[in-house]
Amino acid sequence: MRAVGAKAWVRPAYAAAVRAGSTISRPGGVDDIWGAPANEYGVGTANLEWESLGFDYVPTVGHYRHLWKDGEWEPGFFREDPYLTVHLLGNVFHYGQSIFEGFKVFHTRLGTVESFSDHLCHERMSHGCRRFRMPVIPKKMWQDAINETVRRNVKYVPPYGTGGSLYVRPFIFGSGPRLGLGPAPEYTFVVMCNPAGSYYKAGKMQALDGLVNDEYDRAAPLGCGDVKAAGNYAADLESMYKAKHAGYPISLYLDARERRYIEEFNTSNFVAITKDGKYITPDSARSVLNSNTNKCLRVLAADMGLTVEVRPIDFEKEVDTFAEVGAVGTAVVVTPIKSLTRGNKTWSFQDANVLVQLHDKVRAIQNGEEVDMHRWMRKIPMQDERDVQMMSIYPGL
Ligand code: COI
Repeated sequence: MRAVGAKAWVRPAYAAAVRAGSTISRPGGVDDIWGAPANEYGVGTANLEWESLGFDYVPTVGHYRHLWKDGEWEPGFFREDPYLTVHLLGNVFHYGQSIFEGFKVFHTRLGTVESFSDHLCHERMSHGCRRFRMPVIPKKMWQDAINETVRRNVKYVPPYGTGGSLYVRPFIFGSGPRLGLGPAPEYTFVVMCNPAGSYYKAGKMQALDGLVNDEYDRAAPLGCGDVKAAGNYAADLESMYKAKHAGYPISLYLDARERRYIEEFNTSNFVAITKDGKYITPDSARSVLNSNTNKCLRVLAADMGLTVEVRPIDFEKEVDTFAEVGAVGTAVVVTPIKSLTRGNKTWSFQDANVLVQLHDKVRAIQNGEEVDMHRWMRKIPMQDERDVQMMSIYPGL
């Protein structure tokens, strides 16, 4: 058993402070009596350049995998090999039966390793599985697969204070062979991960110029834009390529029926803070992805006293009322948009102020610096968890 050292009791002391409702200071702050968070799990020992991480592939230790066969999920297993062998007639290749998720895991101020809103990803993936006629992942299987993936890759979790996170990417696809159109006879569910920093090359909280997409639609009114379907992202690639080559790193889709109402950005949801201080975001239930980040930001915006409106947003009629515009999602977090161009007209927005506050609030919760009042964080149990708690000098913690 590991020796009891200072680090063994730092974490519960912080936990008590958080439960008592205090805001926790950053290491080195005047009221920081505890020093850096505990690192009893080997977080960050892969020693990458954590502070300069972007959103690019980084090889990790491995992934966790389950196969669904003969009507049931088989026990899962961990594999170090980053490749899969899939039948040539796997439904994923021909009929696009594939959906994915994405959420982040953080090394917190308390020294714990915690996921942000993975339960919401499970709900959204379940919705997608039903829509695409795939087997739903039981909640326990989902959590166990995530826990094991994070535990085995813990050295790739960026340490607290570096600004990075471990991006977790669960996905499910029809892997069994089928020639005619129909659901696959077998499915593969994988949980993989990748350390990540800023999504856009401009860097954290750097505002982007956006282009309103008038040449392509993202989703049909009764299509599957609300599903995190691999194919929805493939359908965006040409439009994204053109926008980038025209100098716009991000583009905004309007509704396919009237080309009038805002839907979402190619990577993320649309949010505006209006000049009269409201948080507004589109409500197209069937064609806009139900962003978990957006969901949480709406709650935080309401906590901050803002009026939150989820409703159709008529681009031409309302764009002049936007003070701030943001792209929000797991990967992009809150990325301010400084202008939107449609044809030969450009609208510019104010510097992000409310959006920065929302960003900082959600990041503080993710880092364990603020109380997680809405229970979005889930602690990933580590192998030696019970030993560490038994060693606590604080009874009951
Ligand atoms: C995410 O934000 O997790 C996504 O899946 C968006 C993707 C374009 C990276």
